[in-house]
Amino acid sequence: MSYAPPRALWASRLGFILAAAGSAVGLGNIWKFPYITGQNGGGAFVLVYLVCIAVVGLPIMMAELMIGRHTRKDAVGAFIHLEGKRSFWQAPGWISVAAAFIICSYYSVVAGWTLDYLYRALLGSFSGQSAENIEGLFGGLTADGPRQLLWHFLFMSLCLGIVIGGVQKGIERWSKILMPILLALLALLFMNGLLSPGAWEGITFLFRPDFTKLTPAAVLEAMGHAFFTLSLGMAAMITYGSYLSKQEDLLGASLRVVVLDTVIALMAGIAIFSVVFSVGMEPAAGPGLVFKTIPVVFSQLPGGFVLAILFFLLLAFAALTSNISLLEASVAYLIDERGWSRPRATWFLAGLAFVVGIPTALSYNTLAEWKVIGDRVFFDSVDMLVSNYFLPFSGLFISIYVGWFWSGTEEKQELIAGGAGWVYPTWHFLIRYVSPLAVAVVLFFKMKETGL
Ligand code: PFF
Ligand code: NA
Repeated sequence: MSYAPPRALWASRLGFILAAAGSAVGLGNIWKFPYITGQNGGGAFVLVYLVCIAVVGLPIMMAELMIGRHTRKDAVGAFIHLEGKRSFWQAPGWISVAAAFIICSYYSVVAGWTLDYLYRALLGSFSGQSAENIEGLFGGLTADGPRQLLWHFLFMSLCLGIVIGGVQKGIERWSKILMPILLALLALLFMNGLLSPGAWEGITFLFRPDFTKLTPAAVLEAMGHAFFTLSLGMAAMITYGSYLSKQEDLLGASLRVVVLDTVIALMAGIAIFSVVFSVGMEPAAGPGLVFKTIPVVFSQLPGGFVLAILFFLLLAFAALTSNISLLEASVAYLIDERGWSRPRATWFLAGLAFVVGIPTALSYNTLAEWKVIGDRVFFDSVDMLVSNYFLPFSGLFISIYVGWFWSGTEEKQELIAGGAGWVYPTWHFLIRYVSPLAVAVVLFFKMKETGL
């Protein structure tokens, strides 16, 4: 018998749920979801998004956790283990670990912006300023390479500090500290939104569907975002699943994570749109919604000084628990497949992700003239590659593999034990037909759109 070193597991079920929800709940929920909803006209987009979460996101989340738990390996090792040999099916493993690493590098740059805004909020730099001045801060920040690099460095160091502590003493412990604070911050901002004069307008904007605004492009966007927001196709859920106890009810755990992620996105949407409408500003502000509009809004509201601090702290915490899962997904590869020690793997990858993030931070200043793919700067090029190709490809392969090729009957049957009789056949139908088809359609149109 070969000696296998004991592999880490989550210490508790709550620990796993908070860590996985920590991965899922991120900039995607608080920054991206509100602005793409704003750009796509609100209600109808939200409805399509919810359908995508339920019929594509949840089944793939379950599949990824299943693969991880069954193999007890990082994403690359998981597919080698499943096939018992190196095969074509390693591709999704490789693609997702690569995606995790690349996203880790640029997610940290954006997370750095939230630190910069937190710092300004603490200094009170938004109060008493004109709207033009406040909105100008964002352009000022993206034009300032060194300043972004400083925050990027700081943020990556925080991730390193947590991941190096390991599964229980690093990720789980910090998720148990950060996630409750995050929920409390969000609850405060949500209440503030509900009590503001724009609350009703904000809620109707989010929930009243106007299907005339629903373009095919919006449907694709909703699908892509369902993936991103649940941390799918990026090795994170396979890796976190690999630390999950076999006793755990997988359906229940996945449902909790998915519901938390969705509820938090909707609450963030209400918190943001209510205050935006209260001061009569535009909901369709695009990516600048959180970095330009929100600081202006808070500068005009009573108590805005405190609200701004709470808001950017919320964003920073959300980004932190997400980025540690991206780092962990690639760290687990070096530990499991290459036999590296955790400290060595963490230092190496956090360092490398910092370096790869440098051109991202310089994309709108020093390197603004460097067009990498088409007329896209470095940041937009990697983002486009990863979101339009890596994520859908790995999602497609994973659902096809689990739906059609994986003979892990026992593992799948555990679902029957854990849930009602209809759960297994429903999940199997979704993962076999619905998810691959939906993802293939997205992939096709994304490829057409980018012309690659
Ligand atoms: N789910 C995160 C968000 O919504 O911001 C982003 C993310 C984190 C994607 C971790 C993938 C991942 F592995
Ligand atoms: Na999310």
